[in-house]
Amino acid sequence: MTYEERMKWFREARFGIYVHFGLYSILGRGEWTMYSERIPAAEYAQLADQFNPAPGCAKEWVETAKAAGAKYMVLTTRHHEGFCLFDSQYSDFTSVKHGCKRDIVREYVDAAREAGLKVGLYYSLLDWRFPGYFEPEKYPQSKEALLKQIHGQVRELMTNYGKIDLLEYDGGWDAKLKLDKQGWADFWQADKLNAMVRELQPTIIINDRSGKKEDIETPEQVVRAGKELMTESCMCIGDSCAWGYTRFNPNWKTSEQLLQHLIQAAQLDGNYLLNIGPDPQGHIRNEEIERVQQVGIWLQKNGEAVYNSERCDLIGSSQPGLVDLNLQGPWTRKGNIGYWCIFRWPGNTATAVMVDTPVKRVTLLATGEEFKFQWNATTGRLQIFGLPALPPDPLASVLKVEFEDIPRRKKEEDLSSWISGN
Ligand code: GLC
Repeated sequence: MTYEERMKWFREARFGIYVHFGLYSILGRGEWTMYSERIPAAEYAQLADQFNPAPGCAKEWVETAKAAGAKYMVLTTRHHEGFCLFDSQYSDFTSVKHGCKRDIVREYVDAAREAGLKVGLYYSLLDWRFPGYFEPEKYPQSKEALLKQIHGQVRELMTNYGKIDLLEYDGGWDAKLKLDKQGWADFWQADKLNAMVRELQPTIIINDRSGKKEDIETPEQVVRAGKELMTESCMCIGDSCAWGYTRFNPNWKTSEQLLQHLIQAAQLDGNYLLNIGPDPQGHIRNEEIERVQQVGIWLQKNGEAVYNSERCDLIGSSQPGLVDLNLQGPWTRKGNIGYWCIFRWPGNTATAVMVDTPVKRVTLLATGEEFKFQWNATTGRLQIFGLPALPPDPLASVLKVEFEDIPRRKKEEDLSSWISGN
């Protein structure tokens, strides 16, 4: 199977929901609490018996992802604290042996599959309970034990839950932050690890956080184009670095911001993985539900502009802030159709510049209403007339522009030619 074939569903999906859930959810201070407060492992381990999420919580996560219009999900099967949400021969520190005594990964995988969502698993390589992670030279046996556990647990995850679509490693960096990516990959024996994964799950997509390049890059808290691989930009709805439940979390992003990030990711031919951090019972807080639902409502009407979209060469304009000299315009594309996603509605007339391809028809994607337009083949200026004075959609309105060919951007050979209008 080629890279393109393997990536097909992922590219079409564009939008996923990330779920951070673990013992840290009980504390409500984010997923880094064990380390940032230097809580000794034995003391932290006592949380395991309090881990008692409500029955059916995984269904709730899946329902939220569906309502958001997401096409796949990724669950933290174990974060840096080392607590596993699955049954493991390699550790007793699991949700099956403590607290609720349930295999949360199984519940999640079943619920996601039943809802038709692709299934992603997150797995942290580093485990803060092992001195051999922090000081591998000083504690070689602990490092060996850690590696044995990782290779064994990844095998379990890849064997016991049917077809897994996506594997997202994390925590690949070395504690002293000295190694380069190859050094990380060597430390985790990523070549061997991923060869096993691919043998067990031949169609799986793997991220690059083990230090080994593989299929996708996963930048955090920013939306950007891939440097070498296709990109999945992941982000919190609240503050950065509060992926796990953070009880007091003042800076929620608005639905408008979330949608702009999603559209921007699609414009850059990448995906957007938006995180929710369920509370100790596994429930998703209203602040998160409301916001992702708004995105879902928008996608119901405008999803054509996002799912399975391709990169578009065109630029704005008529949108303050989004026009610049040669950067990305707010367009996506499918074949000869351009989708102009307008966040800052211009009023009755929308103007796009540097359009090199003849236009056949312009409609509002959400309603099909058609608009008059004028395209100047010499200057490349496209004007769309008779639009409503107020934005038709408060989040973003999409003009569907049908071209005679794949829309291309016109080169401005003489940067001053627009002054005379010729
Ligand atoms: C990071 C953080 C982590 C978070 C993750 C999300 O590397 O360490 O807490 O889970 O990225 O992708």
